[in-house]
Amino acid sequence: MLDFITLGIESSCDETGVGLYHSELGLIGHQLFSSVEIHSEYGGVVPELASRDHIQRVLPLIKTVLTNAKLTLQDLSGIAYTAGPGLAGALLVGSALAKSLAWSLGVPSLAVHHMEGHLLAPLLEESQPKFPFVALLVSGGHTMLIDVKAIGQYKILGKSLDDAVGEAFDKTAKILGLGYPGGPALEKLAKQGDTNTFKFPLPMVDRPGLDFSFSGLKTFARNTFTKHPNKKSDIAKSFEVATTQILMIKCRRALEKTGRITLVVAGGVSANLSLRNELNKMGRKVGVNIFYPRQEFCTDNGAMIALAGHFRLSHGEYDTNYEINIKPRWSLEELTQIK
Ligand code: KG4
Ligand code: ZN
Repeated sequence: MLDFITLGIESSCDETGVGLYHSELGLIGHQLFSSVEIHSEYGGVVPELASRDHIQRVLPLIKTVLTNAKLTLQDLSGIAYTAGPGLAGALLVGSALAKSLAWSLGVPSLAVHHMEGHLLAPLLEESQPKFPFVALLVSGGHTMLIDVKAIGQYKILGKSLDDAVGEAFDKTAKILGLGYPGGPALEKLAKQGDTNTFKFPLPMVDRPGLDFSFSGLKTFARNTFTKHPNKKSDIAKSFEVATTQILMIKCRRALEKTGRITLVVAGGVSANLSLRNELNKMGRKVGVNIFYPRQEFCTDNGAMIALAGHFRLSHGEYDTNYEINIKPRWSLEELTQIK
């Protein structure tokens, strides 16, 4: 079989990412530009600014990734792009470029689900999870537990009924005056904090089921910070402890319910080392193997889109027309198993 080279383009939020996946060699390059500095001034992502920045960044990133891999556009076999979920204007930049490039090169294009990219990111590593497994996806927009039978066979076991866990990190960090994005800043501050000064509530862990609720944690953080303004690091630590406890308890429950012995944890919050430690402890106790993406592929990137696109394109899946089509809202359960 001829080598199949997939270009992946990610532009769903505030990171422009591109990746190159080779059928024989695996990932052969990736580039990322984060517009986070532009948004930090506003305390969150400004969609119009994100779209404009993607327009400026994406072509130079593609040129760089191809040059570094000693390839040209003509070497590409297919182009995968994030079609959703995400910010409409931002998604339009990646999809319009992917479709135009694919049309001009005479190669197929493929709409990729952003969360399938996150979910499959651990498959970019040497030690890979085997199907079936339970996946915990924790990002700025989603918190989900999924039963994964195969690529494309996804059953959502539970999800957040309000804020996503990354959003809870960002909002709590904002309350503590840590700027945007809050997750990494809060993790850093929590390292100096004491675990036992404050006890955050653990919403929904006493109830059966696998859904989550995180909005109460930021309210608790706000009230505590108002009363104890000089206890920032202790509040950060207790918040982190509470979120990791909630996620650990629900993962354990999902594993028991499904009988799976493998857990995949991905999405921006999976970069958090306290979360990894807590989950690894649980994994050792119950005999479950846990797989994460490497740190840089936890948050948004083009490599995971190239990989997810590669699996589908190389199995003969592709967009059936060149219409520019995005899906800002798109459930993982709508995806189909690869043939
Ligand atoms: O997956 P991602 O890059 O984008 C979305 O698809 O949403 O996730 C971004 C989220 C943000 O909420 C960010 O604060 C959080 O992941 N995050 C973290 C850490 N690194 C990123 N949260 C906790 N600890 C971290 N180290
Ligand atoms: Zn993401």
